[in-house]
Amino acid sequence: MAPKNLFGLLIFLILLVTCTAFSFQFHGFHNSERNLTREGDSNVTPQGILQLTKRENNIVGHAFYNKPIKILEKTNSSVPQTKFSSFSTCFVFSIVSPNSGLGGFGLAFTIAPTTQFPEAEGGHFLGLFNNSNDMNTSNHILVVEFDTVNGYKDNTDTVGNHVGVNINGMQSKIAEPAAYFEEGMDAKKEEFSMEKEDAVCAWIEYDGETEILNVTIAPLKVSKPSKPLISQAIHDIKFVMKETMFFGFSASTGKRKASSHYILGWSVSVNGGIAPPLNFSLLPKPPPKEKDASSFPWVKVAVAMLSALTFTLLCLLFIVTRYKRYMMFETLEDWELDCPHRFRYRDLHIATKGFIESQLIGVGGFGAVYKGVLPSTGTEVAVKRIMRSPMQGMREFAAEIESLGRLRHKNLVNLQGWCKHKNDLILIYDYIPNGSLDSLLFNDNIALDWDQRFNIIKGVAAGLLYLHEEWEQVVIHRDVKSSNILIDGEFNARLGDFGLARLYSHDQVSHTTSVVGTIGYIAPELTRTGKASASSDVYAFGVLLLEVVAGTRPVGSSGQFLLVDWVLENCQLGQILEVVDPKLGSAYDEEEMELVLKLGLLCSQYKAEYRPSMKQVARYLNFDDSLPDISDWRYYDSQSSTNSLSFLEAMSTGKIASSYSLSSIGSRSTLPIKTGR
Ligand SMILES: *[C@@H]1O[C@H](CO)[C@@H](O)[C@H](O)[C@H]1NC(C)=O
Ligand SMILES: *[C@@H]1O[C@H](CO)[C@@H](O)[C@H](O)[C@H]1NC(C)=O
Ligand SMILES: *[C@@H]1O[C@H](CO)[C@@H](O)[C@H](O)[C@H]1NC(C)=O
Ligand SMILES: *[C@@H]1O[C@H](CO)[C@@H](O)[C@H](O)[C@H]1NC(C)=O
Ligand SMILES: *[C@@H]1O[C@H](CO)[C@@H](O)[C@H](O)[C@H]1NC(C)=O
Ligand SMILES: *[C@@H]1O[C@H](CO)[C@@H](O)[C@H](O)[C@H]1NC(C)=O
Repeated sequence: MAPKNLFGLLIFLILLVTCTAFSFQFHGFHNSERNLTREGDSNVTPQGILQLTKRENNIVGHAFYNKPIKILEKTNSSVPQTKFSSFSTCFVFSIVSPNSGLGGFGLAFTIAPTTQFPEAEGGHFLGLFNNSNDMNTSNHILVVEFDTVNGYKDNTDTVGNHVGVNINGMQSKIAEPAAYFEEGMDAKKEEFSMEKEDAVCAWIEYDGETEILNVTIAPLKVSKPSKPLISQAIHDIKFVMKETMFFGFSASTGKRKASSHYILGWSVSVNGGIAPPLNFSLLPKPPPKEKDASSFPWVKVAVAMLSALTFTLLCLLFIVTRYKRYMMFETLEDWELDCPHRFRYRDLHIATKGFIESQLIGVGGFGAVYKGVLPSTGTEVAVKRIMRSPMQGMREFAAEIESLGRLRHKNLVNLQGWCKHKNDLILIYDYIPNGSLDSLLFNDNIALDWDQRFNIIKGVAAGLLYLHEEWEQVVIHRDVKSSNILIDGEFNARLGDFGLARLYSHDQVSHTTSVVGTIGYIAPELTRTGKASASSDVYAFGVLLLEVVAGTRPVGSSGQFLLVDWVLENCQLGQILEVVDPKLGSAYDEEEMELVLKLGLLCSQYKAEYRPSMKQVARYLNFDDSLPDISDWRYYDSQSSTNSLSFLEAMSTGKIASSYSLSSIGSRSTLPIKTGR
């Protein structure tokens, strides 16, 4: 036993010595020009990657180690024998397929007698054969193909993504779908796509004694599986091979299918045992895959989930900000909660389209007025926004508005409700279509006839009477003037803005009493006492009567003309009808006209106590009572000869704030006038 064993060992040692061992290794292919013979479209990228084909149709690329390798041995024995040397190779490849369309065709580890294949075809032939020499024994080629396209001659490779061992042609001796065996007893087979992996490592080992060829592949991240994918005895290989052969790679693309084929590293050992393993960290980075959601279901899922998450987050953010804004809109104080006439700011914002300019129907008085349509009911409303209203009296005022909201009269612009938003007070009124009385009176294109004017006057009187005497409590309007009287579709007067002036009458910060009203309509006592009363409303009403009849503003723009004085003058001269608006011509009832003019003078008397009440005014207007004799009127004040002087005097002595210049007198705006205490 022993001597025989010893003899065997000796023979083995001799064989070892006689078989010249040979190996080489590439970690990347920088500076490989002297070592590789490249043909066709192959090249080395700046990153040092051997690129066999670009992703272009119908190209082939080859790269062979440029030294021929002696692969066959003749053994000296009684019967001369040829033996194919053992070899081992390992390489890392990467296939980059297009994200739309198809990739192809594949690459092949090749042992061939030549590095030139001038008439070989691409596509299924992988740049090694053509239709006429395929499978011809005179080819002397061993191929291990890594093919990504199926359908070659409809038989062997039914799976596109496969590994095959071929001799002299594309018909495989054996082929397997790309896969690797997991470690362990059951050695589960794990299939994978060679195109989709960043890089794949392949090991090809041939044992010259057993004549078994092993092929193993695995994704780069998986270490070498111990069980090969293919383990096949190829006894005829020694008859195929020539004595010296070239080792290398070939790859091709097809007419419509094209991938880029890359080799990142390569190690070969002939007659020297296992090829030295590649150090993966020395390899160039695999070329980037085309980012394609459709070819990566998990990417798709991740993208979908990510966008869903983003969407949800955005929604949440939106809701939170909206909610915050909503809360900002509606920061309510406790007392606001039990106010039935309180509107939601949000609704008003919607109604007026965000208080845009196109909805603006008037500026004046205490703020801007917008037309709006309430989203809940679809009713038209006028929305008055009073900016930066003094907040001190807000609570009391809101209570007052709450009660004003209950006022209902056909000659009032009904207050529907109110809303407080930050520093702004917003009031919601009925929308009255024809605009204000002054816009009709002083419009050159419109001439109100006498019946309309008389009807308007009676309407204003009825409205004021309701406020002063007919409602459950006395409401002082405080700002009767033509621009505060709106005219509805039937030319009825609707008194607006009642009670509002009160908001400005107690300015606690500056410790002054503000007189609120409009120059020309302000009763003389108001400039002294600052106290509004029913009779100060009557005074303004008197001025209004004269204005409606004469078609003239209460105060001339120079400040020198006062309507009341002018009418009184004409009255005393016995020519009172001289003041009638020329637009009327003579189309009026003289009796009614005279009544209105004299009533105007009666109401605008200097001393409050001589002015009639609104109830009395209504009776005069209905001819229920006749006017008192003019000689009994106490028009003149003891100190001041005329009504007008009291006003001008007050202005010149600084009792009326000088910031209001004369030029603003008679303008439509309401001016809060302050008198120092
Ligand atoms: C490549 O060729 C050069 C010069 O002939 C040689 O020094 C080097 O070892 C070769 N490299 C390989 C991997 O064979
Ligand atoms: C084999 O035998 C021949 C002659 O018989 C001799 O020339 C040759 O060197 C031998 N080869 C080996 C490897 O022993
Ligand atoms: C196929 O290839 C062989 C060898 O390279 C060549 O002689 C032959 O002409 C080619 N045939 C065709 C049809 O290209
Ligand atoms: C194989 O190729 C050789 C040389 O190219 C040719 O003479 C022979 O006829 C071919 N055989 C077949 C079966 O095609
Ligand atoms: C080939 O694989 C078989 C089965 O796993 C194994 O027994 C044999 O040693 C392998 N041969 C080589 C050269 O690795
Ligand atoms: C692989 O290369 C890296 C970088 O040069 C080196 O640090 C590491 O030790 C090498 N690994 C092996 C197994 O040689």
